[in-house]
Amino acid sequence: MKELWRLGKIIRIMGKHGFGDITERLFKGEKKRPVDQEAKEWTAKNGFPSPQRVRRALEELGPSFIKLGQLMSTRADIFPTEYIEEFTKLQDQVPPVPFNKIRDIIQKELRRPLEEIFAEFTSESMAAASVAQVHMAKLFSGEQVAV
Ligand SMILES: Nc1ncnc2c1ncn2[C@@H]1O[C@H](COP(=O)(O)OP(=O)(O)O)[C@@H](O)[C@H]1O
Ligand SMILES: [Mg+2]
Repeated sequence: MKELWRLGKIIRIMGKHGFGDITERLFKGEKKRPVDQEAKEWTAKNGFPSPQRVRRALEELGPSFIKLGQLMSTRADIFPTEYIEEFTKLQDQVPPVPFNKIRDIIQKELRRPLEEIFAEFTSESMAAASVAQVHMAKLFSGEQVAV
């Protein structure tokens, strides 16, 4: 049941980003869900979703798909340059998790306020990818660290 729900979500996100024709072909006869009009027009005109749409779909589909995109970014022998450029963004330029959430996670794991752990902590991330999000910080010893 959980798998079915996940599959439905994957199909919905793919439709939104211009892969509607693919999911429609896979599930012929299923009741059609409305797909994003702009995405549909782009696909109709160009025959395939744009590199940006593919990258955004992978981002929205979550960590496993971002990891897949990272792998694809290393295969310039398979994908055109425009796609490689977009997939490469999945290595470190995924939209970051807001700082207050990052603060909560660190404080819960280390069981102390952030200010007691680090002398300085940069709220803006320097990279965000499939699982990791990296912030620069300084320890009370003065040592510069990447968290
Ligand atoms: N110790 C570090 N110092 C600086 N940047 C880092 C460090 N570790 C990771 N990063 C940056 O964060 C990005 C994501 O980290 P990574 O370990 O590859 O996680 P993911 O599995 O989410 O791809 C890397 O591509 C890199 O740009
Ligand atoms: Mg990585």
